[in-house]
Amino acid sequence: MADFQKQTVQWFPGHMAKTRRKIKENLPLVDAVVEIVDARIPISSRNPELDELTSSKPRIILLNKCDVADPNATAQWIKFFEAEGKYAIPVDCKSGKGLNKFDEVAKAALHDKIESNIAKGMPGKALRFMVVGIPNTGKSTFINKMSGRNRLKTEDRPGVTRTSQWVACGNGIELLDTPGVLWPKFDDPAVGDKLAFIGSVKDDILDSETIAVRLLDVLKVDYKDCLLERYKISPEDLKLESYELLEQIGAARGMKARGGCVDTERAANTLLDEYRGGKLGKLTFERPSNI
Ligand code: G4P
Repeated sequence: MADFQKQTVQWFPGHMAKTRRKIKENLPLVDAVVEIVDARIPISSRNPELDELTSSKPRIILLNKCDVADPNATAQWIKFFEAEGKYAIPVDCKSGKGLNKFDEVAKAALHDKIESNIAKGMPGKALRFMVVGIPNTGKSTFINKMSGRNRLKTEDRPGVTRTSQWVACGNGIELLDTPGVLWPKFDDPAVGDKLAFIGSVKDDILDSETIAVRLLDVLKVDYKDCLLERYKISPEDLKLESYELLEQIGAARGMKARGGCVDTERAANTLLDEYRGGKLGKLTFERPSNI
């Protein structure tokens, strides 16, 4: 059990300086920044330095993957970001839902720029956006959907060269693919846990039992009905320590290891697979009031 307290997710600090430099170099080339976050963890899936790095440009935040996030929470997050003076749109880049709003929001965000282009006799000048986001938030999916192309995904790993490239979207919008790997707030262990819940970090970084126990810590409080419905456990079981609750879940599913005790590793993998497969419903792990 002690290990559940100690393990944390490690990120790649060595590459930050390079990404910072590339963002600074490329920023003068764009009119605005499109930041893609995961609607299930809109704060933990953000880069902590981006506000400061890109403060000179208007920002549009896409709360992506809203198809798998709690719709009430997504609505709260939209209000939260708008109150910060940012433009925010809930989207599902995989299906394209919500992306029809992008054009309108982009024009609102760049109203002054468009007026100035018109005054200079360049009314049709393309609007250029830098697309940024930590790995797995859906940048490639967004760019592909907007451009109607099926590009091969460039590898989003430190050490793999990822050249910047412009992608034309055909409606006067040009997108610049992220220059470099953006990192999450890696010094906060809770951020690593939430990225692990949604499968954004490999399960071999944190073992599945650890992730499952920490996920149960959250579900027991915020989404108890989903647990009760799915795993045929009793409300009393929710008072158990999360590891014991995992045993209950495994027992209820008849997951026995050799010797007759519950196979908690299998129970953990089942819980994680079922959550990530959408079987527990649309869940969000961060609310504006919790920050
Ligand atoms: P990245 O460039 O920011 O690293 O992210 P990428 O577009 O590669 O997307 C990461 C994963 O998220 C992909 O899944 C992608 O399909 C999925 N995804 C992107 N947008 C959405 C969305 O709006 N909703 C949902 N539910 N998923 C989304 P994958 O498992 O890596 O690949 P695959 O399942 O598409 O084959």
